[in-house]
Amino acid sequence: MQETLTDMMIREHGKMFGLLGKFRFQIDHLGNRQSAMKSYESFEKFHKEHIFVEEKIIIKYNNKIKNLEMAKVILKQHKELEKISQNIIKQTQKKGPILPDELFTQANKLQQMLIAHVKLEESQFYPFLDKDLPENEKKALIEQILKKLEV
Ligand SMILES: [Fe+2]
Ligand SMILES: [Fe+2]
Repeated sequence: MQETLTDMMIREHGKMFGLLGKFRFQIDHLGNRQSAMKSYESFEKFHKEHIFVEEKIIIKYNNKIKNLEMAKVILKQHKELEKISQNIIKQTQKKGPILPDELFTQANKLQQMLIAHVKLEESQFYPFLDKDLPENEKKALIEQILKKLEV
């Protein structure tokens, strides 16, 4: 049976939280700025690509999806997540003997927001699309996503 959009995105979210977890471990237990920056870069790269797939491939797929209230909430949350992410990058670049407290504050904020965001996507948005999209459209959409993810 063809994988559902929900299954596919649950898997992608899992990878994303794995990368975020590595960054958390770096700042919580090791405190090395270079490694923290590097691990944050890996998360950020993945997160950016994930947002690209959600915004430019899935939400833009058709007007019906684009006009969903949930889609608008998701876009708004992406903007907020990106803003926090910029703050985190700024904090990791601050010079000093120890990592700044603000980095931990922002990292907590990002983690909490991302958990709530992903919950909305996994429990409402993607299950709705899985139910609502005609099989052939869903298949075409999944193929487009896979193509992008493989690059
Ligand atoms: Fe998202
Ligand atoms: Fe997502």
